[in-house]
Order: sequence, then structure tokens, then C-alpha cells
Amino acid sequence: MLTPNYNLQPFNTLSISAQAKFFATVSNLPSLLDVVSTARKKKLPLLLLGGGSNIVLTDNFPGIAIKLNLMGRELVKETDECVWLRAGAGENWHELVNHCLSHHYWGLENLSLIPGCAGAAPIQNIGAYGVELKDVFYELEAVQISTGDTVVFNKDACQFGYRDSIFKGRLKDQFIITSITLKLCKTPKHTVVYPALAAALKAIPEASLTPADVSTAVCAIRRSKLPAVEEIPNAGSFFKNPLISHALYSTLQRSHPTMPAYDQGAAGVKLAAGWLIEQAGWKGKGMGGVLMHKHQALVLTNPKRASGAAVLKLAQAVCTSVVERFGVELEIEPRVYP
Ligand code: FAD
Ligand code: EPU
Repeated sequence: MLTPNYNLQPFNTLSISAQAKFFATVSNLPSLLDVVSTARKKKLPLLLLGGGSNIVLTDNFPGIAIKLNLMGRELVKETDECVWLRAGAGENWHELVNHCLSHHYWGLENLSLIPGCAGAAPIQNIGAYGVELKDVFYELEAVQISTGDTVVFNKDACQFGYRDSIFKGRLKDQFIITSITLKLCKTPKHTVVYPALAAALKAIPEASLTPADVSTAVCAIRRSKLPAVEEIPNAGSFFKNPLISHALYSTLQRSHPTMPAYDQGAAGVKLAAGWLIEQAGWKGKGMGGVLMHKHQALVLTNPKRASGAAVLKLAQAVCTSVVERFGVELEIEPRVYP
């Protein structure tokens, strides 16, 4: 059941070569509980793997890597206006989106083409083109690693924020998400606020817009900027968009009047990390075989399948440039292991 010394290169989209001390694939709850209990007995840490599209492996992992293949989609409740859809943690995210499109359910269309699995979606509250997971999230089920008990978390309990949840904070590494339940609309409810999305859908009258129309436009925008992981290894945005104070924003805005910025009220102003990185001269540039993408400077790519150390070296150099140029700190978005 546990395979020793297993190379995780095919299981992370940056295609970094690193070994897990042990590897297991689990397809049902009893086998997951079995591996969790073994990890507890052997005092080994766990690395939970969905699609591996938001992790950076900087060294071998000294514990058990578990590929979560918990599958299944189930309509758990339906009213005239809504459906509650449960998906196993191992369900591919984009296939789940397509399933909803084929049933004309509204809610996931803006989140089309995000790589990875349903179980990871709550971890960083995935978001794109004006929608975040929290907007459609109902509840999730998770196994507590220390006890093996199943616990249900509703939306409030997950403490979702921008690329954030309780599972990255206070409950980090304490739970394994086994399923998520989403509340989706059967009646039209679209979010077309992102400028390029609004422009792409301009020709379609609002009354005849379908979730599939929105998804098609989102996919086209994504394909124009973001490299497909099968072609160029990457982990999407490598940094979060930074939140700065209104005072720092006023100062920066005076010297950079075209700088994109998004007012977050009392919380401050969010800047576009991709713009900062491009201005710092890194777009299409890199070191050690690792590059900031030529069409989207926020995406770090690893075409030569360099090591995690090389990836972090470029990330550090980019951060230093941005601090020197703008006085703004960037925070890495994917989870860095071990
Ligand atoms: P993994 O990389 O396998 O895991 C990520 C983290 O979650 C790890 O710490 C892992 O241990 C943990 N984890 C995974 N599954 C579970 C589970 N069941 N229970 C507990 N912990 C778990 N993200 C966005 O938000 N918006 C985007 O637009 C977006 N675009 C992307 C584009 C590209 C080209 C790429 C490569 C990535 C993009 N991402 C985006 C990031 C990534 O796709 C998401 O974060 C996604 O949810 C990760 O899913 P995964 O299954 O690959 O997670
Ligand atoms: N920009 C540049 N140069 C670049 C990249 C971006 O000037 O090289 C500018 C753009 O012109 C735009 C602004 O920066 O004015 C924002 O760019 P974009 O709309 O492409 O989005 P982003 O902020 O770079 C975020 C998410 C993406 C998500 C998109 C769409 C984060 C960290 N990233 O990117 O999520 O798909 O918005 O909503 O919030 C991910 O998390 O992995 C991810 C890909």
C-alpha cells in the first residue's frame, strides 16, 4: 500500500523532481483512514496531493505523500432555484465545471480551466475573473488527521479570504478535505465585471447569456495569457497580489500614475503583482532555467524542469527587485514543501 522512495515529478505541475519517503494512492475513506493511522503511528508528516498545481517541492519529502482519488458527484438537494452539488475531493476541477455547464447550473463558469482537484479548491479559496469559491461554497467534509474523525465545515467556519482559508492558517495540516458541497443557481446569475470578460461577451444580449458562454470567454482569456501546464511546467500565479496601505499607495501613484490598483476600502489597496514584476524588468526573464512568463509576469515557469532551489532562487530575486523598486513585499502563493 505504501510505496517507498517515490518520485513526485509527475504529481506537481512545476515538474520538480523530489522523492517522497512513502507514497500512497487512496480511492475511498477506509483506505485514507488506514494511511492516516499509519502516519500517526510512524510519526510521519503527510503531503496531500490533488493535481499538484499549487505546490513547490524544494527537497525530498520526509513523510507520506497521498494522492487523493476520492471521486463522485452527487446532487444532494434541489429547489426551483438552486442545487446543492457534492463532489469528492479527487474530482478534477474543470471537469466539475463542465458538468455544471452541461446542466445549465450557474456559479462555476468564471472558475473554468483552473487546474487541480475539488478538494484543494477551499484551501486557498480559488478565484478568477470576479468570482471566488466562497461565492458558491456551501460546506465541506474533512478528516481530522489527529483523530480520524470526520468534521463538517460550513462557509463561516472556513474563514475564506483572498487566496486564504482557515486551512492555510490556524488549521494548517490538520484536516484532509474529502468532499465539498457547492450551492449553484438554476436561474441566471452571472458575474461579468472583469473588463476583458465584459468585452468578450458584449455582443451577447444579457437575457440570452448562458454559463457556457461565460466559460468559453473565460477559457479564451486564460489561454491567451496562462501557459498550459502540459506544455510549460508552472504553478499559476507565483505570488499573491499585495495589499498595501492607502498612504503607500498615494506615494506610489504619484510616481506611477498608470499602476493598476484595486481599492479594498479600510483594508487598503491591492496592487497587481504581475505589473510590479514586469516593471521590475522580469517579464520573459529569469535565471537557472526558470523564467517569469512572457505573457504574464506573475507566472513562474519551469521549462527545463529545474530544482525547487532554482525556483526559489528566482522567486527571491524577483521579490528583492520589487522591494527595491516599489517598497512592496510579495508573498509566495503556492505552498512550499517540505
Ligand atoms: P495541490 O497543488 O495538489 O495542493 C495544494 C495545497 O492544498 C497543498 O498544500 C495540498 O496539500 C493541499 N491539499 C490539496 N488537496 C487537499 C485536500 N483534499 N485536503 C487538504 N489539503 C489538500 N488558482 C486560483 O485561485 N485561481 C486561478 O485562476 C488559478 N489559475 C491557475 C493556472 C495555472 C496554469 C496553474 C498551474 C495554477 C492555477 N491556480 C489558480 C492554482 C491552483 O490551480 C489552485 O490553487 C488549485 O486549487 C490547486 O489544486 P490542486 O488539486 O492542484 O492542489
Ligand atoms: N499585468 C501587467 N503585466 C503582467 C501581468 C499583469 O501589467 O505581466 C497587469 C494587467 O495588465 C492587469 C493587472 O496586472 O492590469 C492584473 O492582471 P490579470 O488581470 O492578468 O490578473 P492577475 O492579478 O495577474 C489574478 C489571479 C489569477 C486569476 C486572474 C484572473 C492572483 C495572485 N492571481 O491574476 O489567479 O486567474 O487574476 O482573475 O490573484 C492563480 O492564483 O494562480 C491565478 C492564476
